[in-house]
Amino acid sequence: MICCSIVAHTKEKAIHDMPRSKADIIEIRLDYISELSKGDIDEIISKKPCPLIMTCRKKEEGGQFKGSEGERIGILKKCLKADYVDIEFSAGKEIISELTENKGSSKIIVSYHNFEALPGNIEQIFEEIKATNCDIVKIACMANSLEDNLRMFELIRKAKAEKTDIIGLCMGEKGEISRVLNLAYGSYLTYGYLEKGRQSAPGQLSCEFLKRVYGADKLDLDGLKIYGLVGRPVSKSRGYIVHNLAFKEMELNAVYVNFLVDDLEEFIKNFKGIVAGLSVTMPYKQEIIQYLDKIEPIAKKVGAVNTVSIRDGKLVGHNTDVYGAIEAIEEKIKIEGKNVVIFGAGGAARAIGYGIVEKKGNLIIVNRTAEKGKKLGAELGVEFKSKEKIDWQNIDILINATSVGMMPDINESPIEKEYLHNMVVFDTVYNPPITKMLDMAENNGCTIISGIRMFIYQAAKQFELWTGKQAEGIYGEKGFGVAG
Ligand code: ATR
Repeated sequence: MICCSIVAHTKEKAIHDMPRSKADIIEIRLDYISELSKGDIDEIISKKPCPLIMTCRKKEEGGQFKGSEGERIGILKKCLKADYVDIEFSAGKEIISELTENKGSSKIIVSYHNFEALPGNIEQIFEEIKATNCDIVKIACMANSLEDNLRMFELIRKAKAEKTDIIGLCMGEKGEISRVLNLAYGSYLTYGYLEKGRQSAPGQLSCEFLKRVYGADKLDLDGLKIYGLVGRPVSKSRGYIVHNLAFKEMELNAVYVNFLVDDLEEFIKNFKGIVAGLSVTMPYKQEIIQYLDKIEPIAKKVGAVNTVSIRDGKLVGHNTDVYGAIEAIEEKIKIEGKNVVIFGAGGAARAIGYGIVEKKGNLIIVNRTAEKGKKLGAELGVEFKSKEKIDWQNIDILINATSVGMMPDINESPIEKEYLHNMVVFDTVYNPPITKMLDMAENNGCTIISGIRMFIYQAAKQFELWTGKQAEGIYGEKGFGVAG
């Protein structure tokens, strides 16, 4: 079940929000309601659109409740008509017994929150909570590493094997994957928020994304294929949207999550047996190469891997950026024999430059730092020039492979408007989809190509490499609409 945790400052707002969530189950955080009057709890319960968890968190467990402990317990006792009442293990065994003995038809969740870490004795804590006679054990701990998620999954699996209902999750950015995958491992539910700015715990994802993008409630651990992005940072990437929507469309038991990796070696060691394929982004596109069993020729030549497929336990490195860029350009113009300028001399420029040379385009490199530009030019066997020395009348294709114009610097362009005439202009930047450079180029009558086209093509190629299935028609720009 996907549970929407509702934080609202008034009873009216909580009641108004309940039917908006479209979740399977709702948690009402009573500690957020500033003044609870007599009858409010009954009214909330009577208006529930689906099963309800009532809870009233104290400060030490991440809550907002300002009254005394006695008042808090009093409130929870009044909630005993709800489907579920969640009380912290730290409330003490006596209080918990009082609730479990008088629970009627309610189920009692006894919860443990740790905002610092997943402690070493978590199994012992689990056993102690279980011994309270509660219906469901809840354990939510801060993940300080991706590996903490694996420990949480192990705990969930163990609880499930002995038929104890458990809600298990890791908090924080490194714990995000647990919020998507915990249901597959057997967690009773996973929590999501209703709308941006109303998270009730760190690392929480939106209910809508858990359901409609990740399909977290439909994943089956048996045969589940887990894919993901390896990088640092990863939060700005849109890959998880397009890939998960593609998996849903193809009805695959597969999911794509973001792995915020601090230590690539550790990650490969611990997750190699769990993931079925990876996307790789900064800063690991080169570093990943040493951990591969095999590297495809294009990726080897470019010296960067953005995709890893796993076949028979062996890691194979690919570069789908080259393919993505070339496809995006050739939708509009054939590269062979054309005069092409690339701005930039970093990883993106090298990959696309390699693709242009392969396609027999006549390439010129332009770069802010001449030294780096010359080096790439020499590597690719092409010219390096300054912008001013180029005969722009003869240029057919201009490519921006720098980060200039990327959010938040959306008013920047690597080139002035007067240069932009009679060309196809392609920007590898995809956020925003139409950069300042593309906007100016379009106004001057140029044909423009958004970085989104490249992104979609490279993602579609990843899908094919991972699944062995055709991606045609499955990947499109609609994923970007979901991203808002
Ligand atoms: P990537 O792997 O995404 O290509 P990179 O290797 O850091 O990233 O390369 C970034 C490219 O963008 C470089 O060519 C860089 O120019 P320098 O070699 O002079 O550093 C270019 N770049 C980044 N910011 C720039 C700016 N404000 N103006 C011009 N070029 C810029």
